[in-house]
Amino acid sequence: MTAKTMEELVALCKRRGFIFQSNEIYGGLQGLYDYGPLGIELKNNLKKAWWSSMVYERDDVEGIDASILTHPKVLKQSGHEDTFSDPLVDCRDCKSRWRADHLKEGKCPSCQSDNLTDPRPFNLMFKTSVGPIDDGNSFAYLRPETAQQIFVNFKNVLDSTPHHLPFGIAQIGKAFRNEITPRNFIFRVREFEQMELEFFVEEGTDEHWHKLWTDLRLQWWFEQGVNKENIEILNVPSDELAHYSKATIDIMYRFPHGLEELEGIANRTDFDLGSHSKGQSELNITANVTKNKSSNSKLAVQNRETKEWKIPYVIEPSAGVDRGVLALLNEAYKVEKLENGKERTVLAFKPHLAPIKAAVIPLKRNNEQLVKLAADLKSLLQKKKLGRVVVENSGNIGKSYRRHDEIGTPLCITIDFETIENNTATIRNRDTMQQHRLKLENIPEFFAANIEAN
Ligand code: GLY
Repeated sequence: MTAKTMEELVALCKRRGFIFQSNEIYGGLQGLYDYGPLGIELKNNLKKAWWSSMVYERDDVEGIDASILTHPKVLKQSGHEDTFSDPLVDCRDCKSRWRADHLKEGKCPSCQSDNLTDPRPFNLMFKTSVGPIDDGNSFAYLRPETAQQIFVNFKNVLDSTPHHLPFGIAQIGKAFRNEITPRNFIFRVREFEQMELEFFVEEGTDEHWHKLWTDLRLQWWFEQGVNKENIEILNVPSDELAHYSKATIDIMYRFPHGLEELEGIANRTDFDLGSHSKGQSELNITANVTKNKSSNSKLAVQNRETKEWKIPYVIEPSAGVDRGVLALLNEAYKVEKLENGKERTVLAFKPHLAPIKAAVIPLKRNNEQLVKLAADLKSLLQKKKLGRVVVENSGNIGKSYRRHDEIGTPLCITIDFETIENNTATIRNRDTMQQHRLKLENIPEFFAANIEAN
């Protein structure tokens, strides 16, 4: 069962410290959110799983971490300066502003007036001045996608690594879009994170790779715990494709607010590398020139057999980290009826995604012997380096179990007076609520097997 409403998820996220409204004590800033102590763990675990599958588990992908501030020329060449806009409509009555495609039956969603301006393009990129003089000439954009910094580093990576086509460059990082109407919690926000792979292939093999990457990405989301029933595949209609795309497949997820894009897999052809090659030629830039001086195109690659120089095509799986976090929260959220008639809320995350892997709970709060045993066990488990382990010194075992069910901790280990006598502790499984006793010396191995196995 998935979450009933977005409100339930938002409330849980605030109550337990996953996600907060940004700048809240000053009234908040719309379209921005902060990740709290548990949210950052969940988000890091998701990014770690992505990086592992995209970079470590492959032999044809390298990672980078490039700057957020981006040269205007990059985003001119990429087409973003000219085309990266949404249609903006003003309500003449209540003065609110809307995306034309977010109107409700042609009316202002705020006051229901139809006294609206015609739509006009509104560029979504944030600009900021660079250096001490703000005269409007020296500025940079906050990148609207991480992809462009991959394209402009294409030759740097190719020339400094042993790769040849096909190969990819992966990046996780912040991107910024001045959304007209941010909404639906962390789904549509102005500052967000992307996990993007640009996979460079020879023209003619692009459709094969497009299909392959779509299958791989779907499989990966299922491995993170996304339910097949909550996914639909959308072949983006040609009149809705981004300016750089020949074909895009969207992995659509049934979020609490409706079916929306979780990840897009685009065939960007040679649009970006081609465009940046032209940009370099126009400026007569000599830096970053391909080793082949006879090539007209600076971002071309030579085919090993035909010796022909060509600009590679690009397949781009592009996933939103925050959208991923929202989907995982939605999948994990359950309210279960218990035999005693009460209810419990559980976040049934896969263990590798759980913000806290285990809680060690001394049965009696501040009891020196129990707390010392708990702290020692926590240190041993932490040394396994499988993620965060905590000592929960609250003294109320029922409350501790409820809290850890609600934040998705797979294992709770209780240190009680029997532990002092016979060196055993109780282990409780989050999903089954079953408990059993194990010798302390066997717990690290049991813990590792349970957390690693999933
Ligand atoms: N790089 C694709 C996107 O940001 O939508």
